[in-house]
Amino acid sequence: MLFFTFLLEVLWTLTANGVQLSLPSTLYLEGLPRKYVAAQLHLHWGQKGTPWGSEHLVNGKATAAELHIVHYDSESYESLSEAAQRPQGLAVLGILIEVGETKNPAYEHILSHLHEIKHKDQKTSVPPFNVRGLLPPLLAQYFRYNGSLTTPPCYQSVLWTVFHRRAQISMEQLEKLRETLFSTEEEPSEPLVQNYRAAQPLNQRMVFASFIQVGPSYTTGEMLSLGAGILVGCLCLLLAVYFIARKIRRKRLRNRKSVVFTSARATEA
Ligand SMILES: *[C@@H]1O[C@H](CO)[C@@H](O)[C@H](O)[C@H]1NC(C)=O
Repeated sequence: MLFFTFLLEVLWTLTANGVQLSLPSTLYLEGLPRKYVAAQLHLHWGQKGTPWGSEHLVNGKATAAELHIVHYDSESYESLSEAAQRPQGLAVLGILIEVGETKNPAYEHILSHLHEIKHKDQKTSVPPFNVRGLLPPLLAQYFRYNGSLTTPPCYQSVLWTVFHRRAQISMEQLEKLRETLFSTEEEPSEPLVQNYRAAQPLNQRMVFASFIQVGPSYTTGEMLSLGAGILVGCLCLLLAVYFIARKIRRKRLRNRKSVVFTSARATEA
């Protein structure tokens, strides 16, 4: 579905609410109704002490950060800015990023240059790298819907593709993203954090999934706690049954005794 190639040297620019890497239009998306060429990529993240920073939630859950690779319909429009105002003028790939055990070398290509653009409107160039490395494995599993830009003016112009699988970066890399950039030039400088838009209601939107999900999918941790929960539940049920059974037996015994007692009295009388 996607076509990737090694890039020419590209520019990282620090903008008002994030960093943006310009992409050449030789990169494009395949498999959509029209040809969408790449324009830029950028990231959204949260802040220290919170685990969230993504703009999309899957099953109600956000991840630490999110990468957006922005493309525009170059068959119908002259430029990104023109396409950005038209329905389906843009096609954006959303990649949910979570924290994993190891450093992600593809993300390191871009993150290692962040310190060169600490302040607004600064630019730096990034040596060639393969954009494919920023994407998760298994590109065939994705969600797709018609939605909007997540920065003002939030035009309803985006054909979104959000991958089901996540990309992983190390905690150190996430911290670099959260702590390297500044939103103000004056001292004391404010770190550029939490540049994500809160999730919006779906309204009447349909979200298509390219794959079939059999029941909710659980992580190993969730599976373990689910297993433990079930076990505790079973134990409680067993205990309850045991106590009820014991109570019934005692009651029966007592009843039997009184019957014996009554009959004994009856014989006496
Ligand atoms: C997006 O909207 C267009 C035009 O209304 C429609 O043809 C297309 O099926 C929609 N796509 C999705 C994924 O909802």
